[in-house]
Amino acid sequence: MKELIKRLVEAYGPAGSEECVRNLIMEEVRPYVDEVQVDALGNLIAIKRGGSKKLMLSSHMDEIGVMVTHIDENGFLRFYNVGGLSPFSLIGNRCYFANGTVGVFGTEQLDAMKDLTMSKMFIDIGAASREEAAEKVRIGDTAAIKREFVDLGNRLVAKAMDDRIACAIQIEALKQVEKPVYDVYAVFSVQEEVGLRGARVAAFGITPDLGIAIDVTRTGDTPKSATMDVALGKGPTVKVRDSSVLCTPAVRHHMEEVAKANNIPYQLEVLERGGTDAGAIQLTKSGVPAGVMSIPCRYIHTASEMVDYRDVEHGVRFLVKLMETEYKG
Ligand code: CO
Ligand code: ZN
Repeated sequence: MKELIKRLVEAYGPAGSEECVRNLIMEEVRPYVDEVQVDALGNLIAIKRGGSKKLMLSSHMDEIGVMVTHIDENGFLRFYNVGGLSPFSLIGNRCYFANGTVGVFGTEQLDAMKDLTMSKMFIDIGAASREEAAEKVRIGDTAAIKREFVDLGNRLVAKAMDDRIACAIQIEALKQVEKPVYDVYAVFSVQEEVGLRGARVAAFGITPDLGIAIDVTRTGDTPKSATMDVALGKGPTVKVRDSSVLCTPAVRHHMEEVAKANNIPYQLEVLERGGTDAGAIQLTKSGVPAGVMSIPCRYIHTASEMVDYRDVEHGVRFLVKLMETEYKG
């Protein structure tokens, strides 16, 4: 599974430009599902039939990135963030565009580092003039962080663990599940990082009886971190809340029962800031019961997001069992 994770996290896919990731996932899941659809926004919906009720799963394919806003006369690019991105996390980093063009993030001279904002930064693609730069990059092009996958043993590090690690888990669970008790609509959603947009239309189209999003969540297990009762290596989480959702209590309870019945370690998660596709699913039509399984992740929205592989393996098993266990509400 590490090989699949490496391919997924290294694929190019800022919000709105998910086609490389979608093609990769489509090839991967097609043999294991009954039907594959792509909707107007670009969501990939893999359907595996097994029951009368509909279970919608959602993992987002998009990652954070940057968009070109201006090219100056010396060939430097100005940019804005696509999704939540701190300018500090970009210093010393590289990005790459869909056509393979690589750029380096630079900063203007600053009196103090705390004065750094996105508008004081630029991307250097090695061009010496506007004309030369324009041969490779246009206004509105998006770039993703460029950084390779690293396997540290139990811990895995890469850009875009948010949320490709969940895409990998969802793919692997579709491969392993034998008898789902639902018609499973496994959505690989687009544009989560800019406001849960893909999941919103996918849920409207599917009208699920139950929705479960899979995403990463923060941890409180690094030196002097913010207080948070989630740590790497202690299992996937059952989310209680984040900024987008108060998970349906009966779904939370159901998820805890499934974890306990199958001896899957899990943690309860209260995330103070950040949202998930469950927020969009839950508010569909007259409301959908919704929950979230998260994979603990350090350094979210940086070039080096870190997860624990044992949490990933437990996450796959948890998701398989959730597909095989009926939610009674
Ligand atoms: Co994110
Ligand atoms: Zn995410």
